Amino acid sequence: NKPIRILGIETSCDETSAAVIENGTVILSNVISSQIESHKRFGGVVPEVASRHHVENITVIIEQALQEADCTFDDIDAIAVTYGPGLVGALLVGVAAAKAISFARGIPLIGVHHIAGHIYANRFVKELEFPLVALVVSGGHTELVYMKEHGAYEIIGQTRDDAVGEAYDKVARSLGLPYPGGPHIDRLAHEGIPSIPLPRAWLEGTYDFSFSGLKSAVLNTLHNAAQRGETIEPQTLAASFQDSVVEVLVDKSFRLIRERPVKQLLLAGGVAANKGLRGALTERAEREGVELIIPPLSLCTDNAAMIAGAGYIEYKKGKLADMSLNGIPGLPL
Ligand code: KG4
Ligand code: ZN
Repeated sequence: NKPIRILGIETSCDETSAAVIENGTVILSNVISSQIESHKRFGGVVPEVASRHHVENITVIIEQALQEADCTFDDIDAIAVTYGPGLVGALLVGVAAAKAISFARGIPLIGVHHIAGHIYANRFVKELEFPLVALVVSGGHTELVYMKEHGAYEIIGQTRDDAVGEAYDKVARSLGLPYPGGPHIDRLAHEGIPSIPLPRAWLEGTYDFSFSGLKSAVLNTLHNAAQRGETIEPQTLAASFQDSVVEVLVDKSFRLIRERPVKQLLLAGGVAANKGLRGALTERAEREGVELIIPPLSLCTDNAAMIAGAGYIEYKKGKLADMSLNGIPGLPL
């Protein structure tokens, strides 16, 4: 019984990553090259800069992932690559690399949805049990996803404007914090008291989210204080903002679980690294007797191990891609 090894490739945004995993859940290597330093001075990801970095790095990163896993291409059973959603130029680099290796070596190719990857990061922690709900929170996504089986995604609620991570990054920017601001706000929030009243968009009767009103309220609070010649402690503002975000995310997730009983609640996406969110979900899940799975910090933000993990499921189902695979920026889940 030869183990099945999948090479994962992820280039949808500003991380060039390659990983080798065995039998779906054992990570042999997970190499991540972050471009944050290159984008910092622009205050966000510059698509053209991202594509160029991916082109420069992709071959080296793939070689490193194989080396760290003590593998050659001969040991790889399939290549799983993110083909959307994301920045088109960035996606194309990963897809082109995966197709080239697949074609040259005759290795089966698998196309993976980036968000499916984030969800399957949880499978490195524990086997998934269905039905389940995944709370997906990243720089581009905020979704409550209901899954009855592997690979079947029903979006029950989503953001109507900003994604959570996007709101975090914008609020951070208004406080003069570097990109990406999410981790900085998270850190400050733990040093402050949430004493500034900020809105919570409940959007009653739906499982949708909205964060742009909250973001504007934060900006207005800063602006009004400046006009009065007052200063607001960034810790207080960060804590108040995080409180509002976390309360809505946790509450809506558990409302859904009450309506559609599930075996597990999964947390997924870059914002899953948020300490406030992890803490509040853990506490509530314990209180309500719900099994909660949260990926380790290293698997929350973009990485190729999670792409290989989701790809393994597709491989087992025999769902392979061919040379027509293309990067799709707005790929639906
Ligand atoms: O999933 P990800 O790596 O990339 C996308 O697919 O978007 O998520 C990146 C996002 C950024 O907006 C970043 O600020 C946010 O995740 N993030 C956090 C934290 N760590 C990363 N947001 C809040 N608290 C954190 N600790
Ligand atoms: Zn992501």
